[in-house]
Amino acid sequence: MTISLTDQTHTNLLKTIEYKASVYAKTTSPDQKKELGQFFTDYHIADYMANLFSFNMPKAKTIEILDCGAGHGILSISLLNILIQKSYTKFDLTLYEIDPGVLQDLHQNLLSYKKEHPHITLNYRVIEKNFILDPIESKFDLIISNPPYFKLKKESPEAKAMIHLVHGQPNIYMLFMAKSADLLKETGEMVFITPRSFTSGAYFKRFREYLLDAVSLDHIHIFNTRREHFKNESILQETIITKFSKQDNPNITITSSEDSTFSYIEELSTTKDLVVEKYRNIICIPSSADDLEILDLFHTAPSTLQDLGYKISTGKVVTFRNKELLSTTPQSLFDKEKEYCPLLWMHNFKNDDLLFPLDHKKEQYIEFSDRSKALLIPTQNYLLIKRFSSKEQHRRINIGYLYKKDLSSSYVGLENHLNYLYRNDRELTSQEMKKLGSFLISAEVDKYFRILNGNTQVNAADILNLPVPPELYKG
Ligand SMILES: C[S@@+](CC[C@H](N)C(=O)[O-])C[C@H]1O[C@@H](n2cnc3c(N)ncnc32)[C@H](O)[C@@H]1O
Repeated sequence: MTISLTDQTHTNLLKTIEYKASVYAKTTSPDQKKELGQFFTDYHIADYMANLFSFNMPKAKTIEILDCGAGHGILSISLLNILIQKSYTKFDLTLYEIDPGVLQDLHQNLLSYKKEHPHITLNYRVIEKNFILDPIESKFDLIISNPPYFKLKKESPEAKAMIHLVHGQPNIYMLFMAKSADLLKETGEMVFITPRSFTSGAYFKRFREYLLDAVSLDHIHIFNTRREHFKNESILQETIITKFSKQDNPNITITSSEDSTFSYIEELSTTKDLVVEKYRNIICIPSSADDLEILDLFHTAPSTLQDLGYKISTGKVVTFRNKELLSTTPQSLFDKEKEYCPLLWMHNFKNDDLLFPLDHKKEQYIEFSDRSKALLIPTQNYLLIKRFSSKEQHRRINIGYLYKKDLSSSYVGLENHLNYLYRNDRELTSQEMKKLGSFLISAEVDKYFRILNGNTQVNAADILNLPVPPELYKG
């Protein structure tokens, strides 16, 4: 798909708005940016987003548009440009913006646009109120938004206003998306640019369920490089563009580009069933035919690791909180009576081996006493899984094998960056450990995990809900 703006004046206008926004961004403090979640869209992205709508409304219709968190209006104006190119002439535009500092530019940009386009009917209103808290009666044909992003306290008025979506600490952008979904007309569509975080993760589960029930996800665009998509801002969040429509659509298009210049776009179409994982409504983002095969393999698997009876828990030793219980030596220099047991970190596991004790600056032992007992677990066979890894790493799932036979103590402490896999009904056998381990570090699981999870965490729930294709789980 190549998208080009034929009208040079339109491009120039968008560039001017982008420039004004960048000048404004330089004058605002990092605190204000954070408080308002203010990161302005560059004109390439604005243009790309505006082009994603379907434009199948009757040409004579007055198109009702909403831009929530409008900033300098770059998204609305990009959309008006495209609509005019497609021969629409009547528009009713509503913009929400709470930062008084941008309002003058916003009004000026809209006014100049109206003056420059005397042949169109453009009614616009800028509502200087909080989009989440303002009761809105109207419904819209098209909603376009780069909403603010920041974490909200659970007791904030915004979180309270949409408490039905909140689980853990909400981010304001998801409230913008959910409220917009409610404001669409029956044939309406919305396009958002947001962090990728909502597509997976337990905190967003309730929101995903709500959103995917209210609207149909028709298009996802991802950027292959984590370069800055917002000029003048160093946001290293993975960012995606999504298009939703009120009408149900069984298919989805996924596009990707190297960066926000969209110089080369790859496109993939598939069924939504393949992309939305059914256990937790996780939105997977495949970017090649190979990825689609992987999704098919995993999403048709008969059971997950949880279905097979496995459990997972997190290592309980948070070292900075339990400093007084830890030691670098197996005995206390001051109290010979004190008993110690091993404290294992990920660095204690290399390939298939446990390396303990290690010559390492980190503490290797934890006190074995009544005050530490709650942090320890009985020494058994466990499969350990590192809780954090990044996209850039060779493997997203990093494991270690802990065999009972390798430790002489009957208890062991596991550092908090580790999860451990076990069963409640019996101990894992050595053969089973190898089978599980080979499955988890297989190239297929790595590919699946990368499609599924865009953040740096490898959560317990991600592992437990991992579908187990029988062809990969042998031995
Ligand atoms: C990420 S910026 C995007 C601005 C502009 N749409 C763009 O794409 O360049 C989000 C904007 O939302 C505004 N905003 C933040 N919280 C808001 C709220 N509760 N209601 C309305 N606007 C809000 C901010 O001041 C900021 O201008």
